[in-house]
Amino acid sequence: MATGVYISKFLAIAIVVLTVSSIGGIITMIIVYENERIKTQPTAPPTTNSTTPYPAGPPPNMRLPGNLIPESYDIVLQPHLYIVMNNTTNQSLVFTGNSTVYFRCVENTKTIVLHSKEQNVTAVKVTDLDKEKIIKVDNTILYSNESNFLEIVLDSVLVKDGNYSLFTAFEGELLDDLAGFYMSSYKKGFIATSQMQPTDARKVFPCFDEPAMKATFRVSLIHRPGTTALANGKVIGTTLEVIDGETWEVTRFQTTKKMSTYLLAFTVSDFHSIGSTHERVDIKVCSYSCTFSTDAYFISTLDQIALPDFSAGAMENWGLVTYRETALLYEEGVSSTSNKEWIATVIAHELAHQWFGNLVTMKWWNDLWLNEGFATYISYMGVDHIEPTWNIKDLIVLNDIQTVFQVDSLASSHPLSSKEDDVQTSSDITQLFDSITYSKGAAVLRMLADYLDERVFLNGLRKYLQAFQYSNTVHKDLWEYLQEAVDEDSSHIKVAEVMDTWTKQMGYPVITINTTNGAVSQEHFLQNQTSDYDFEWHVPIRVMKEGEPIKIATLDKKVLMPDFLSEDGKWVLANINCMGYFRVNYDPVNWDRLLSQLEMNIHEIPIINRGQLIDDAFNLARAKHINVTLALRTTKYLWNDTEYIPWESALRNLDYFILMFDRSEVYGPMQAYLRKQVGGLYQHFENFTMFSTVPEQYNQINAISVACSNDIPECQEMARMLFDNWMTNKTSNRIHPNLKATIYCQAIAAGGEKEWEFAWGKFENATTATEKDKLRYALSCTRKIWLLNRYLEYTLNPDKIRKMDAVSTISYIARNVAGQAIAWNFVRANWNYIKGIMSLGNLIDGVTQRFSTDFELEELWQFLTDHDVEELHLAIRALEQATERTEANIKWVKENKQTVLEWFKNESRREQLN
Ligand SMILES: *[C@@H]1O[C@H](CO)[C@@H](O)[C@H](O)[C@H]1NC(C)=O
Ligand SMILES: *[C@@H]1O[C@H](CO)[C@@H](O)[C@H](O)[C@H]1NC(C)=O
Ligand SMILES: *[C@@H]1O[C@H](CO)[C@@H](O)[C@H](O)[C@H]1NC(C)=O
Ligand SMILES: *[C@@H]1O[C@H](CO)[C@@H](O)[C@H](O)[C@H]1NC(C)=O
Ligand SMILES: *[C@@H]1O[C@H](CO)[C@@H](O)[C@H](O)[C@H]1NC(C)=O
Ligand SMILES: *[C@@H]1O[C@H](CO)[C@@H](O)[C@H](O)[C@H]1NC(C)=O
Ligand SMILES: *[C@@H]1O[C@H](CO)[C@@H](O)[C@H](O)[C@H]1NC(C)=O
Ligand SMILES: [Zn+2]
Repeated sequence: MATGVYISKFLAIAIVVLTVSSIGGIITMIIVYENERIKTQPTAPPTTNSTTPYPAGPPPNMRLPGNLIPESYDIVLQPHLYIVMNNTTNQSLVFTGNSTVYFRCVENTKTIVLHSKEQNVTAVKVTDLDKEKIIKVDNTILYSNESNFLEIVLDSVLVKDGNYSLFTAFEGELLDDLAGFYMSSYKKGFIATSQMQPTDARKVFPCFDEPAMKATFRVSLIHRPGTTALANGKVIGTTLEVIDGETWEVTRFQTTKKMSTYLLAFTVSDFHSIGSTHERVDIKVCSYSCTFSTDAYFISTLDQIALPDFSAGAMENWGLVTYRETALLYEEGVSSTSNKEWIATVIAHELAHQWFGNLVTMKWWNDLWLNEGFATYISYMGVDHIEPTWNIKDLIVLNDIQTVFQVDSLASSHPLSSKEDDVQTSSDITQLFDSITYSKGAAVLRMLADYLDERVFLNGLRKYLQAFQYSNTVHKDLWEYLQEAVDEDSSHIKVAEVMDTWTKQMGYPVITINTTNGAVSQEHFLQNQTSDYDFEWHVPIRVMKEGEPIKIATLDKKVLMPDFLSEDGKWVLANINCMGYFRVNYDPVNWDRLLSQLEMNIHEIPIINRGQLIDDAFNLARAKHINVTLALRTTKYLWNDTEYIPWESALRNLDYFILMFDRSEVYGPMQAYLRKQVGGLYQHFENFTMFSTVPEQYNQINAISVACSNDIPECQEMARMLFDNWMTNKTSNRIHPNLKATIYCQAIAAGGEKEWEFAWGKFENATTATEKDKLRYALSCTRKIWLLNRYLEYTLNPDKIRKMDAVSTISYIARNVAGQAIAWNFVRANWNYIKGIMSLGNLIDGVTQRFSTDFELEELWQFLTDHDVEELHLAIRALEQATERTEANIKWVKENKQTVLEWFKNESRREQLN
């Protein structure tokens, strides 16, 4: 497998491409498409009556008619841009090309319908390959609606089982729109590159642009001499040719395997391969996936390229994976450990796609979750395989499951599987790239693998990949092959029956267990508590009783089950390691038993479950299944826990309490409580922190930020000292990259003008994006109102804060309790300027997070009445959501404030007694 990592010479100087031995850290693994396309109502293309017996006109929906099946394409593309510019050249941002598609007719027709978008088709020629004669073209029609259909009306009929070819010549523009064949300019020049998924191959050349229309592709790129051209296949030759009086380099690529159009990729750049330092990554990551492959080398080449402008995190194009720079490139001493782990996870995700998605592809986009769910799930297995010490598999609980639980408990959620007919237009397709598809997809596959047993699951997958290689599937095919493996194993699980309940219904259940009689029931869990649906799930539950091994029970209906019955006053714990996609509630006595266990010996309860008990409890309280005090009580044992998953689960949930109460009398006792809880954790890391080392990636950051922000003097002293050292040293900064954001923030919060000005100077001079971002965030942490006010003013000056960073900077300031009011006033005072330049939805969302009083609600209403709808335009939806959220917050504060205040007071009084 010849492989290369391509980056620009400029980057090569500063950056080391990640090698396996240097990977580590964490970040949320969601590759969401950011360039949300404008959603317009689909309009059906016109249908005309035909006098012929053959169907004429395009189909009534947005799907290809399926009467012509492409087999192979010959594509020539010539981007005219200059990669390196000098003063005398004029940049030329067009590409020209031609393509011949060879296809078979499976149903008589007089028209060819395929896709073409935003390009000029300058020549069309249709050939009957069997009769070796040209077929006359009567008309070509390009539909301007969302179908992107190019209809070629013929003079005579294409007959069933006949072989034909269609030649087109075309020209298009290389825009910086991150879609199709596009250009991006960066520090040293230009790049032509591509992003086809989901529906932009049609923007590059006329094609049958649906994932099931697989074909082979023979590509030639004609580019400026001295530049590097890459495409999906291996290079088989380059020649210099004179075209229209200019010399060009022609690079020819090996014919690809049968593949979908959305996986094509082309790049022209002056990037150079930096060798095979990463080879271990490929081979090791693939060693998990490879076990599925019938032929480990089914692709001849696997290049990876880092791009300065890229819409997604990365794209799994077959044999040429493209990455955003931050998703591939790691800079020693500057990038944090979390950057490293993110990079490893993204690489593993894209490599997993080479099998799940590329070799075997979904028939249509409604089954996208099969691609993305698998890639997300397997990326954890892949990274774990390379670096078992990271325990990355556990983090799926925080990164995917707890996160998507939030979205999936809203009434606005949607099922994992959509109906094929409900997904038609490009915007329908783009909307599917969401956290339900990625994270819930991964979570239910993980649950299924556990339920079937990983060995059986992998066996089924192997059969499935073998059966469908180079072709397409629907989710039923997967269930069928897994069933085969289950049957071979003489198990009685009905895969499709089980999985249909998880993929066809939105949301998830809360399982309620009464351990006094073993009664178990399920109901649809909604934050708002009442469900309009009568959903039932087929729930595999891993359950454990105090002092006993884990068992798997299966819940279909409301039943009494001995597995859930407490004996001799012992606790029962369900959903071990959060393998299942559901929440669990218990009778109060069992909750008490579990909490006592945590106080006595945390090790009896698995780490993931310690986090899950906390996350479940807070969410159950939010939905009024249990009292808020029970949720708070799940955090009491944390003084004795140093693990990341439980702490992170607690802090994410307590964050809402901080926002609601940090301006009220609740906050004093709450801070006292948090000081008590975090003391041990802070000390656990103290020596490492003082010497700027990191023994363990994540929880050290929590220890510092909780300790410092709740006024533990040693912490604030430490931050000030490390920052002072930097200030006096001027040039060398010895703070570990992992701890920079936190330490900067805490030092600036504890400091004054001097610290702020120093950080501002460093911000202005920083050359790396990550360092700049850390400083920009930390500058918002000061408690000096006048500094915050001046910082807000800076956001109006693009020379100080880039426009793209203005919204997040204002939101950071609003997140600071000292900045809340002034940020909101600032937004209102400068509305006329702001509304023209900023992304208003995020801005409104950011500055109103804390709103929870009647006064703030009135201010929002006032704001809505002071401006007319026209003027609020893009902000109207965000303002309505902010109003709704404020109302919910007011209600929640009213219902909970007194209870929460008393609870914290009690707990902090106990602190004084201790
Ligand atoms: C068009 O088709 C419709 C339905 O097939 C038919 O009722 C109508 O007579 C046709 N009109 C002409 C002009 O052929
Ligand atoms: C500038 O670039 C053009 C096209 O690459 C080349 O023909 C020309 O010689 C260059 N001029 C200089 C001064 O390098
Ligand atoms: C080329 O452009 C740069 C920057 O615009 C300018 O400083 C330089 O003088 C120019 N060189 C020539 C030969 O025109
Ligand atoms: C396609 O374009 C290339 C490059 O311009 C040209 O050499 C070739 O002849 C074209 N193919 C046809 C069939 O016109
Ligand atoms: C496509 O054709 C239109 C109309 O002739 C022309 O204005 C436009 O520049 C062409 N686009 C390209 C990329 O050649
Ligand atoms: C909760 O339900 C009520 C009534 O059905 C509805 O008005 C409200 O918007 C819902 N709130 C959320 C956050 O879904
Ligand atoms: C649990 O079951 C017992 C015995 O049937 C019953 O008395 C108790 O009320 C139940 N507890 C809950 C929380 O439903
Ligand atoms: Zn993916």
